[in-house]
Amino acid sequence: MNCLIRTETSLDYERVREVIKSAFYREGKDSEFNEWSLVDRIRDSKYYINDISLVAEFEGNIVGHILFTQMKVNNENNSYNSLALAPVSVHKDYQKKGIGKLLVRSGIEKAKELGYRSIIVMGHPEYYTKFGFTLASKYHIGTTSDFNDKCLFGLDLVDGELSRISGVIQYCPPFYNEEGELI
Ligand SMILES: CC(C)(COP(=O)(O)OP(=O)(O)OC[C@H]1O[C@@H](n2cnc3c(N)ncnc32)[C@H](O)[C@@H]1OP(=O)(O)O)[C@@H](O)C(=O)NCCC(=O)NCCS
Repeated sequence: MNCLIRTETSLDYERVREVIKSAFYREGKDSEFNEWSLVDRIRDSKYYINDISLVAEFEGNIVGHILFTQMKVNNENNSYNSLALAPVSVHKDYQKKGIGKLLVRSGIEKAKELGYRSIIVMGHPEYYTKFGFTLASKYHIGTTSDFNDKCLFGLDLVDGELSRISGVIQYCPPFYNEEGELI
């Protein structure tokens, strides 16, 4: 599909919300803590990075969205910077046509351009390995210090970066509820 990938503007927010909702909506899912309100919270915070919040436009209509935020990887001695890929969404009527691939690839290129050193994502193993992501547990990077996550992946943007860092991931604050739980 011939899609234009570009950075989002405030004029896109409403349509982007529909796209995210269409991709992630599940009956009975938490009405307050979901991917579309997560994106709203990020945009309302100082953690929003407009340069790397991208939309896919097809025939003038927004059909996909991807957003990255800075993330920390912490161990007892150090805290490292990385970049979290989350969420990525393609409108349900446009899935499996290569749009997600375009968004992820463009996001990776943009992240490199902006000087980020690595990307971390939680998601489907078969999907992210297509882009060169490998299991984060291999580098002792995890959601807990057990480092046995099966759905957490990392990608080097600078050679050897993930081998240099290790620890427990910490998303930016909009990802957590008041109890400090990842939502
Ligand atoms: C996941 C998502 C972003 C992928 O976008 P998409 O445009 O449908 O995917 P693409 O057409 O670019 O697919 C690229 C490849 O991944 C595969 N793929 C797509 N969705 C997949 C999934 N959920 N699991 C595994 N593989 C998947 C495709 O079959 C395709 O394989 P190929 O390259 O061998 O042909 C989209 O389906 C979506 O919004 N899903 C709901 C929300 C979601 O789960 N987001 C990701 C959170 S981790």
